[in-house]
Amino acid sequence: MTFQEHIKEGIPANLPSVKKIDNTINHAPKRKEILSKVEKDLALRNALRYFDKKYHEILAKEFAEELKDFGRIYMHRFRPDYKMYARPINEYPGKSMQTKAIMHMIQNNLDVSVAQHPHELITYGGNGAVFQNWAQYLLTMQYLAEMTEEQTLIMYSGHPMGIFPSHKNAPRIVVTNGMMIPNYSKQDDWEKFNALGVTQYGQMTAGSYMYIGPQGIVHGTTITVLNAGRKIAKKGEDLAGKLFLTSGLGGMSGAQPKAGNIAGCITVCAEVNPKITDIRLSQGWIDEKITDLDVLVTRVLKAKENKEVVSLAFLGNIVSVWEKFDEENLFVDLGSDQTSLHNPWAGGYYPVGISFDKANEMMARNPNEFREKVQESLRRQTAAINKHTAKGTYFFDYGNAFLLEASRAGADIMAENGIDFKYPSYVQDIMGPMCFDYGFGPFRWVCTSASPDDLQKTDVLACDVLEALMKNSPVEIQQQMADNIQWIKGAQENKLVVGSQARILYADAEGRVKIAEAFNNAVKNGEITAPIVLGRDHHDVSGTDSPFRETSNIYDGSQFTADMAIQNVIGDSFRGATWVSIHNGGGVGWGEVINGGFGMVLDGSKEAEKRLKNMLFWDVNNGIARRNWARNEGAMFAIKRAMEVEPNLKVTLPNLVDDSLLHDLF
Ligand SMILES: NC(=O)c1ccc[n+]([C@@H]2O[C@H](COP(=O)([O-])OP(=O)(O)OC[C@H]3O[C@@H](n4cnc5c(N)ncnc54)[C@H](O)[C@@H]3O)[C@@H](O)[C@H]2O)c1
Repeated sequence: MTFQEHIKEGIPANLPSVKKIDNTINHAPKRKEILSKVEKDLALRNALRYFDKKYHEILAKEFAEELKDFGRIYMHRFRPDYKMYARPINEYPGKSMQTKAIMHMIQNNLDVSVAQHPHELITYGGNGAVFQNWAQYLLTMQYLAEMTEEQTLIMYSGHPMGIFPSHKNAPRIVVTNGMMIPNYSKQDDWEKFNALGVTQYGQMTAGSYMYIGPQGIVHGTTITVLNAGRKIAKKGEDLAGKLFLTSGLGGMSGAQPKAGNIAGCITVCAEVNPKITDIRLSQGWIDEKITDLDVLVTRVLKAKENKEVVSLAFLGNIVSVWEKFDEENLFVDLGSDQTSLHNPWAGGYYPVGISFDKANEMMARNPNEFREKVQESLRRQTAAINKHTAKGTYFFDYGNAFLLEASRAGADIMAENGIDFKYPSYVQDIMGPMCFDYGFGPFRWVCTSASPDDLQKTDVLACDVLEALMKNSPVEIQQQMADNIQWIKGAQENKLVVGSQARILYADAEGRVKIAEAFNNAVKNGEITAPIVLGRDHHDVSGTDSPFRETSNIYDGSQFTADMAIQNVIGDSFRGATWVSIHNGGGVGWGEVINGGFGMVLDGSKEAEKRLKNMLFWDVNNGIARRNWARNEGAMFAIKRAMEVEPNLKVTLPNLVDDSLLHDLF
């Protein structure tokens, strides 16, 4: 059978042979046992409904084993044999370039060289799922191959509910992931309902098919490290010879050492997983691997002395590095953490003092003990960080719920007022006021031709647009424009592509619209050989309501509401998005955030031009309007500017209250 025939077949009519677990790749840890006997039966009944009754006897036994062995039913037998990667768009079967482009994006999210646990359909973040099982993947690809532009595919947490009649300008897919009745959004609810096969954790770009490998975060991380460097600079000096200590070499965290190199500092990144460390070394995302703490100290001292730009992976626990550097009085200029603390009890955070394998065993066999070890480790880590910050280290939370989980663990992490944390989140100090409030966020695109030449052409087009815009841009956004021009100029040289031919570039509303227009024209005139997919990380101006991350610099009390993210996805869907998605969880954890995104296919048509202008303008300015209403200075400036260029926009502006009026009233 050809690849196209496999896709069109969907769930195979005859049972494929059993598949052994491939131990050469990275696998999800066993999930904790949470279902009762009755619930286990229900999980099996749920899984078997994808298959012909005649196979139920065989599959029931097999799926019961999977549930016992892995805590989930992945349906390994149905994993396709063909290679999983983002193929050139013309290789996909289908009746629409839009649906073929979506297949390109889905396969990229499951590519072995891109995804964290590809055979468990997890793209990043330990639990960021594209689908819950392989039957859902097969059925979704089949639906995409057969549907037309008069239909919309409806995805419920990885499950394709069906193709419904719609119209040409409607999204081709509407995705929801992990949407729960609010009272059922605790961590164990995810464990239970995911094990039952009725929901999944879509992270941000996993369940929305918009992941582009660690590049996606390298750019944001570069901007963060650069601006953190500007914050600590005493006399405007750069980061040369300064030390950035952090952790994690996973899906997103793996971008930190590369970003550190681009920003020009010494990066030490601790990682407990040997497989992941070796992958990052072989990909060139880290320069050196070190396994001994004393060797690490000597190497860092040498790097400091020579002001080297270098990234060092330490294979071991981050807690021991913070403690060792304190003992040795080794000064850390910038500190952070990117373990997966949004998922602390199921493999996101490994406690110090226990081997990696033992920890994996303990989290499944003895979850209560594991939980205690994690919390003890977080208390130790915080105590060590506190010693460093007392010496002058600038520590920031990197959007992984470190501060939140440390506080829940009873660590010494609260500020004196007992309400705030001792340390800022990177959004409060850096990303919010410098980027999001002005509309700058992680805009991205993918060349569905899979051609590096096309990508290079888009880089040039995007750079030309930004340089032209910068000439007339106000002083408030000049630094952002300059950083982004520098980024796009260095993008080819920095070899950022892992998986699809994709690029990320922080841009504001005007930049995104102008770049998209240039791309659509280039597709129309054949300069670019196939459609381009536009999208963004959900980690953006408008798409995400998350009080401890994206909206942590909203101070009018509305950071605990989720109207913005919901408005955003509804607005995108009727303004021309090719697909939209809305998720519970993502970044900081299940129940802690609502986030949404879109994908838009630019096929060079007039309709695409209309859609991009309408949708991208909304997609950014919705969030700026809200940030403006929250009295954020940059956003008040940016929304007034948007109203000047678009007469059909009229946003409610806040009246600022004189503080002196508010004293002694209660
Ligand atoms: N700042 C941002 O913009 C941003 C963006 C995306 C994700 N995040 C958050 O950052 C976190 C990391 O994301 P990811 O995709 O890299 O997750 P990941 O699970 O792929 O990687 C985390 C890595 O940390 C390692 N680790 C865990 N505990 C450790 C310890 N004690 N010492 C050393 N290493 C340890 C794990 O082995 C894993 O490889 C998540 O919580 C995610 O939600 C932040």
